[in-house]
Amino acid sequence: MGGHLRQEGRERRSWFQENPAPSLELIAQVGATPASAIIDIGGGASRLVDNLVKQGFEDVTVLDLSEAALEAAKARLGDDAGQVHWIPVDATVWEPLEAYDIWHDRAAFHSSPRTMTVRRMSRALSGP
Ligand SMILES: C[S@@+](CC[C@H](N)C(=O)[O-])C[C@H]1O[C@@H](n2cnc3c(N)ncnc32)[C@H](O)[C@@H]1O
Repeated sequence: MGGHLRQEGRERRSWFQENPAPSLELIAQVGATPASAIIDIGGGASRLVDNLVKQGFEDVTVLDLSEAALEAAKARLGDDAGQVHWIPVDATVWEPLEAYDIWHDRAAFHSSPRTMTVRRMSRALSGP
């Protein structure tokens, strides 16, 4: 009953997607392969990571400033969590340590300074 109420509450949030089909389609459209390094910025409670792992993507990173959100995602993924890189950090001050092929963010930057975000994105895609 408590679980049901929590679930219902999450689905009522306008940004929550049980099935992140639009993101998966966009990732396919940009030509992602299983070896593509994909980072989900502000991944939070998103099920994108679950779907990417299920589809065989081998280099998936989820970054979020909320450690609690990352821990919840890890718990949900169970053993599969070990295949994912988890980065608990504020994306607006993050210094990427590697280059990513695909940057994904959805509903993450309602209140972050956009210019800072674009600079980080550019650095994450070109490498440190
Ligand atoms: C509205 S939720 C969206 C979650 C997910 N992207 C989705 O589409 O379901 C916003 C998430 O972005 C994270 N977030 C917000 N600002 C951030 C920042 N500056 N750096 C990293 N994560 C951030 C929050 O912690 C939260 O998990």
